[in-house]
Amino acid sequence: MKLSYDVIVVGAGLAGMRAAIAAAEKSKNISIAVISKTYPIRCHSVCAEGGTAAVLREDDSYDLHAWDTVKGSDFLADQDAVEFFVRECPKEILLLENWGCPWSRTKDGKIAQRAFGGHSVNRTVFAADRTGFHEVHTLYERLLIYENVDILPEIFLTNLFIENKTIKGIAAIELKTGELLAFNAKSVILATGGAGRIYGFTTYSHQVTGDGIAVAYRCGIPLKDMEFIQFHPTGLVPSGILMTEACRGEGGYLINKYEDRFMKKYAPEKMEVAPRDIVSRAMWTEIVEGRAFEGEYGPYIGLDLRHLGEEKIEERLPMIREAAIKFAGIDPVEEIIPVKPAAHYTMGGIHTNIKTETPIAGLFAAGECACVSIHGANRLGSNSTIECLVFGKVAGEMAAEYALSKNLKQISTKEVEAESKRIFDDILGKSGDENPYQIKKELNETMDKNLWIFREGNGLRETVKKIRELKEKYKNIEIKDNRKGINTDLLWALEVGYMLDVAEVVATAAFLRTESRGAHYRLDHPKRDDLNWLKHSLAYFTKDGPRFDYIPVTITKWPPTERKY
Ligand code: FUM
Repeated sequence: MKLSYDVIVVGAGLAGMRAAIAAAEKSKNISIAVISKTYPIRCHSVCAEGGTAAVLREDDSYDLHAWDTVKGSDFLADQDAVEFFVRECPKEILLLENWGCPWSRTKDGKIAQRAFGGHSVNRTVFAADRTGFHEVHTLYERLLIYENVDILPEIFLTNLFIENKTIKGIAAIELKTGELLAFNAKSVILATGGAGRIYGFTTYSHQVTGDGIAVAYRCGIPLKDMEFIQFHPTGLVPSGILMTEACRGEGGYLINKYEDRFMKKYAPEKMEVAPRDIVSRAMWTEIVEGRAFEGEYGPYIGLDLRHLGEEKIEERLPMIREAAIKFAGIDPVEEIIPVKPAAHYTMGGIHTNIKTETPIAGLFAAGECACVSIHGANRLGSNSTIECLVFGKVAGEMAAEYALSKNLKQISTKEVEAESKRIFDDILGKSGDENPYQIKKELNETMDKNLWIFREGNGLRETVKKIRELKEKYKNIEIKDNRKGINTDLLWALEVGYMLDVAEVVATAAFLRTESRGAHYRLDHPKRDDLNWLKHSLAYFTKDGPRFDYIPVTITKWPPTERKY
């Protein structure tokens, strides 16, 4: 296998593939590798369902998309980044259209757009309820045409090689052989996705374990705004499978056990298509105050699509119907779907600027693992897949330009030996008595209990303490399978290590932020506090836990106001 490239993209979801395409289009004379834990078409981006936001209609404008995004973010988004972002979104939609993405159409053949939470107009472009699937396949097919791109699946990131604050490559395990590989690169793009599996009840697939976020953090790169985790209102009970917001965008209702559309109390104008933080809090309040349905798996809220009729459900939400039948035994044409909020999105991530640059020269980050920030304290639905496309492109172009002007820096044998010792002696070779599967279970339990939709100081303090205890236990794990090749026990253990570090940052940042903003709601500090907290948190790795710093939010046109829907 070739171990030296001009540009390495880690992650083959929407952001990673879009970045690789942009780099390849920038120059035929650079070599590019896309390295990923799974096969590209099995990346978590395929789970994106409802759509991708962009201004395409006459009743819409860039300013309106930007305003909705900034207001949705509870004024924590950087407004220069948002203004850039909204202008790029339509270009990406049309580009994917040209590359063959089968967007759903209106009767007169135009690209259809549906309502989504917090957007003032129908702005969400979609391909039925399989938007991510079609976007991923479109990008993958496109990627295959570039002769200077190698796709290297089933290779797992373990470290970055950095010298004098400059990237020089990555360390990764080839899962099939178990060999540690040291890849040299002039520039590296991290596009490794979020960290949602730190939670138990979640819409994330099991592979989303914060790998790139944790690796960057351990290498001294700050993580921004990690306290902000999004809870999607409608995770299918009991599995957590995403019941897309498009269910409500297409007209579905949320009802409590009295068959009451309770959203009228919480967001009288927007009702079910208010932003996710507001809808999730409303649902959780209904649950806590005893107005939820009771079922075999505990309380749930009803997602009612019955009035939409079979034809519309089949046309617009076919996969939702299939998933509800297969995973809950419910046909939404005839019955209400049992749902409750589920961890869905990591608003924070690796600190980057608007050009996707991290503080390390030659290292870029894009997509969910990065925090530019355009989502602030609460992302609007359908702003994520398009963020991957917009900032994936920026990262690809930036990394290619950087690589064109630099020479490779060699990785030393000593550095590779140190990484090999860390993994194979200190982790795989350990004969402790703690079980990493149990550690993950306890991590999920504490996150689901104390870092959920409503938080308060004591629970957060308890969680930080619990995570530290789990980190101590992690030092003493046993990996029962000690073979090198296809060692899923080792992979799992490494992922658990990543999740512990990320969760510690999430919990500590949440404990320190003594206000309520967007998805971070503190029962003991229920008001937004712009005087003290209109700022981004930056978490730096230290061996004793994260150290925090804060930087200002960029405000261009929209000073913070009260947020009502
Ligand atoms: O509900 C959904 O389809 C999710 C979309 C998103 O997170 O942007």
